[in-house]
Amino acid sequence: MARVLVTRRVPEPVRARLADNFDLDYHDAETPLPRAELLARAAGVDGIVSTLTDAVDAELLDASGPQLAVVANYAVGVDNVDVTAATERGVTVTNTPDVLTDATAEFAIALMLSLVRRVTDGDRFLRTREPWIWAPTMMLGNGISERLLGVVGFGRIGRQAARLGRGLGMRVHYADVVEAPSDEFEQLPLDRLLAEADVVSLHCPLTPETHHLIGASELQAMRRDAVLVNTSRGPVVDERALVDALRSGEIAGAAIDVFEYEPDVPPALLEMDNVVVTPHLASATHDTREAMGMLCVDALTTVLHDRGTPSNTVHQR
Ligand code: DGY
Repeated sequence: MARVLVTRRVPEPVRARLADNFDLDYHDAETPLPRAELLARAAGVDGIVSTLTDAVDAELLDASGPQLAVVANYAVGVDNVDVTAATERGVTVTNTPDVLTDATAEFAIALMLSLVRRVTDGDRFLRTREPWIWAPTMMLGNGISERLLGVVGFGRIGRQAARLGRGLGMRVHYADVVEAPSDEFEQLPLDRLLAEADVVSLHCPLTPETHHLIGASELQAMRRDAVLVNTSRGPVVDERALVDALRSGEIAGAAIDVFEYEPDVPPALLEMDNVVVTPHLASATHDTREAMGMLCVDALTTVLHDRGTPSNTVHQR
């Protein structure tokens, strides 16, 4: 039986299917394997199910050995994987596209609404148990109807966020660092999108081109009454510049699911009422996380049993 290392606890149906089909080394925990243990346990396996917190680099691939055939990354983003190093070693890398598109786009909209309609703010307030009574001027937020949603990164998730935004009555435009034609929505240059949007929502993968795509000057280019939503990857935003922009009122608020130095969250963000923060939850629904796991099992099966190439193979850029 092919040997497979699974670096983190996965939903039970996924674990059961893995155990039925492979000789499993299963890290049954919510926290990652320490690096030295990861390197040791990777030795001699044919496949690895990695998560976005595991650096799958040349060191890990070499520690595993030449028999390693596949790394199934439990995420659509593969910025934690050195795809070039894997390709050079003949290792197939797969990700989990499509199955998390709806969940992630929904979460971006949920964050946007939480922020602009002050849902988390109101929740926090009630938990202080301070006395309150309805008042015409109490905790006013902003509606989204007819507001402009600026989607940055127009792949699968960005397109779905755009459709959801339009369904809620928003006007929607998008920008991208790569060609992303659309019959449904109008593309704008990033600087124009930033200058016009009421809500800027980030949906691009983390690549060298998108690292710090949103920095001090981009935040300055945004309207002072606009908000930023990030469900992509933390380093797409220069986090220090974001804190400065929020402090100085250059933008009105931010809703952030991913952090530059994850799992660290800048303490300053936790102090601000115009900020909503969540712990990288955008794809976290029961169905989605199970479907992501099943895609990983399918990929391992295709490579290790059928000697085939999974359709969700990630190719070197
Ligand atoms: C991904 O898949 O890349 C998300 O960040 C985690 O689901």
